[in-house]
Amino acid sequence: MSDKTGRVFAVANRKGGVGKTTTAITLAHGLAKKVQAQNGRVLIIDFDPQGNVTASLNLQPREFDLADLLLDRCTFKDCVVSANRASDGYARPNLFILPSADSLAEAKSELMIKAAIGGRRSIPVEDILAHKLGFVRQLFDYTVIDCPPTLDAFSDAVYNLADEAIVPVKTDFLGEVGTVRHTSDILAAQSYGIDIKIACILPTFYDQRLTIARSVLEALVKHYGKSSVAMPIPRSTIFEQAPAVDGQTIFEYQPDSMPARAYQSLVDRIYAS
Ligand SMILES: Nc1ncnc2c1ncn2[C@@H]1O[C@H](COP(=O)(O)OP(=O)(O)OP(=O)(O)O)[C@@H](O)[C@H]1O
Ligand SMILES: [Mg+2]
Repeated sequence: MSDKTGRVFAVANRKGGVGKTTTAITLAHGLAKKVQAQNGRVLIIDFDPQGNVTASLNLQPREFDLADLLLDRCTFKDCVVSANRASDGYARPNLFILPSADSLAEAKSELMIKAAIGGRRSIPVEDILAHKLGFVRQLFDYTVIDCPPTLDAFSDAVYNLADEAIVPVKTDFLGEVGTVRHTSDILAAQSYGIDIKIACILPTFYDQRLTIARSVLEALVKHYGKSSVAMPIPRSTIFEQAPAVDGQTIFEYQPDSMPARAYQSLVDRIYAS
């Protein structure tokens, strides 16, 4: 495993409730299924203090989490959680989570203070995640970072760790007015020389019967180009049901549904790229 050079994706948009966590979990599970036969492994880093990833998959928290790892209070082994729930019928032997909780917010403040007062020997905030979590590339074929809606000073830190960003955009009125803003953080990071690419824009909550949804999709294609916009993810109640029914992913809850097929198309796109 030590010679692996895994790929790291950030699922990011500073707008709340656009489907970032749903996308991170579904994409990671889809990639895990793809690489299972080759003994590949996939990690989700929950970078949101809301801690929605473990809750959505119905996994038990451990004593340590990402905050402890970032503050050198534990090792990676102490805080990583296996998403395998084979005994409940959900076998995910090669999917792992680096969980978060409220404590991540405090850890971020502590790291910023250390960076500010530590002088020349301290690690700048924008390099902290690459420095502390860069090893994931050696352990995992794919790492997917679930970003919070506000990335604040850690925005550049996430983009320094990740290779590419996936940007979910909700196809509603607010999605339309912010067409350009969805990627402004990423473009700003690129302008300071951070090597982060946009893997794709992912239209979410898409209802093709609605004029506004079609018009947002059109605006996204016009602005970002057809090849950068992934197949839209339909608006569907199964996204709320799947985690509520025993912490399932869409691929477990309704694998033949349109929403599962749309996410499979994202998985295939990322795997083939
Ligand atoms: N395509 C969809 N259709 C309908 N509901 C969806 C869809 N995608 C996600 N949801 C639901 O919308 C809610 C918000 O989704 P999610 O948590 O993935 O967004 P988020 O961008 O991570 O939010 P936050 O910014 O708070 O982290 C959840 O209840 C989720 O189940
Ligand atoms: Mg989220």
